[in-house]
Amino acid sequence: MAARTPIVAGNWKMNLDRAKSHSLAEAVASRRGEAAGVDLVLCPPSVYLETVASALKLVGGSSPSGVALGGQNACDKTSGAFTGEVAPPMLVDVGCRYVILGHSERRTLYGETDAIVAAKVHAALAAGLTPIVCVGELLEEREAGRTADVVSKQVRGSLAGVAAADLPKLVIAYEPVWAIGTGKVATPEQAQEVHALVRSLLAGLSDTTTAAKVRIQYGGSVKPDNAKDLAAKPDIDGALVGGASLKADDFLPIAAAFRG
Ligand code: 13P
Repeated sequence: MAARTPIVAGNWKMNLDRAKSHSLAEAVASRRGEAAGVDLVLCPPSVYLETVASALKLVGGSSPSGVALGGQNACDKTSGAFTGEVAPPMLVDVGCRYVILGHSERRTLYGETDAIVAAKVHAALAAGLTPIVCVGELLEEREAGRTADVVSKQVRGSLAGVAAADLPKLVIAYEPVWAIGTGKVATPEQAQEVHALVRSLLAGLSDTTTAAKVRIQYGGSVKPDNAKDLAAKPDIDGALVGGASLKADDFLPIAAAFRG
């Protein structure tokens, strides 16, 4: 199996303010060594991207702090009359290397379909960003035994038209919707089962060698006390962290759990 560099990202969602964004980013950067060998990404609200970029001392796409910046969403267009939207090249311009796409909150609250997510994935890849593509089932879908069907449809739909060679340029985040913000984490076995399924789907879209290179994060109530057991699973390559990413004292130990 290819060695995959673990990746832990903080999705700050619509939280914090400018001063708190700056100080949290500085705190994470100053303690980055606790998670050596793990790729770290901070995804603040878009209005604070520049604030966080300056706290991380991002210059021309490189990060001396070793912490990368990501957007929480992006438009599928590069410019034009799209009021309220942010184009992928704009994210690059302010120092982003990553962008979260198709988060369940975007899917359920803002009507993002797999086709919309796929269009955004193409635009993000074209701009040179690494998309973090989110998939995950609702509680009723899991209880109805439909998890594999739902996740398969989301993976295939959200990655429609992506060239096999481009798959390692993206990250998949498996986030069961029932585990997001609920304190109800998937068991490591439940998560591993879906991660293995996602990897087999990726192999179907490419081949096993390519699929083995793609990093698959788990997201949903990841905390310092459950991260180690998740990290021990072979197909769990990192975490997409919501609530616990808002405190350096929680985020760093989670990231550290994914050290080899
Ligand atoms: P929580 O970690 O708060 O459950 O959120 C997970 C998530 O949605 C990350 O994108």
